[in-house]
Amino acid sequence: QLKGLIGPSILNADLSMLADESRRLLDSGADYLHLDVMDGHFVPNLTIGHPVIKCLRNNIPKVYFDAHMMVSEPERWINDMAGAGVNQYTFHKEATTSENIHDIIRKIKEADMKVGLGIKPGTPVHDIGDLINDIDVVLIMTVEPGFGGQKFMSGMMDKVRWLRKHYPQLLHIEIDGGINLATIYDCAHAGANMIVSGSALIQSKQANKDIEQMRQIIDE
Ligand code: DX5
Ligand code: ZN
Repeated sequence: QLKGLIGPSILNADLSMLADESRRLLDSGADYLHLDVMDGHFVPNLTIGHPVIKCLRNNIPKVYFDAHMMVSEPERWINDMAGAGVNQYTFHKEATTSENIHDIIRKIKEADMKVGLGIKPGTPVHDIGDLINDIDVVLIMTVEPGFGGQKFMSGMMDKVRWLRKHYPQLLHIEIDGGINLATIYDCAHAGANMIVSGSALIQSKQANKDIEQMRQIIDE
C-alpha cells in the first residue's frame, strides 16, 4: 500500500503570509505543499503564479511542491514552473486536446517534474484510462475547481475506487476539495493516498494533531 501523504492547500490562508503559513503547516507535520494556480479563464478566480512560487521556494527549500494548474494552456508554464522549483506539475485533462496531451506529458518529464493529471467532477475517469501508465499522479477533484471551502462531493469516490482497483500499488491517487476529518474516511476507504486539505487545516487550532490523525486514517 502506498503511504498516505498530507498536502495542505494554502489557497484560503492569509496569502500575504504565504511562507509563514506554509512553514507552520509543514512544522505541523505536512508532507508536501499543494499550490493552487488559477488563471481566471479555466476557473473563475485568480491566485498565484510561478514568480510567487519561486520566492516561496527560496524560503522553503527541499519540501515537495505540487502545482495544481487550473489554467487553460497548461503547456505554457511547464518550464517556468520547473524553474520556480516545482516538483509535480498537475494539470487538467479538460484544458487539453487528444492531440496535445501526450506532448504536455513528455515536456513535464523532460523538465524533471512528476506528472499529475486532474479531472473535474463532471469528467469520467475512463477518459484518462489510456494515459495512466504515462503519469505519476491522478488528481480527482471533489469540488468544482476555483474556490476553497466548498462541500465535498462523495460521489467522486466511485472514480477513486475504480482507479485503485485497476492500479493497486502503482498509482498515486490525489484527492482535492472539501476534505476534513469527517470526509477523509470516504477517501481512505476508496483508496486515495495523497490528501489535499485547505480550509480545514488552515482554520484548525491544532493542525499537528489533525494532520497526524488524517495520516493515520489514510494508512489504516
Ligand atoms: C479548489 C482547489 C483546492 C481547494 C482546497 O479549486 O483546487 O485545492 O481550494 O481547499 P478546501 O480544502 O478548502 O476545499
Ligand atoms: Zn487544488
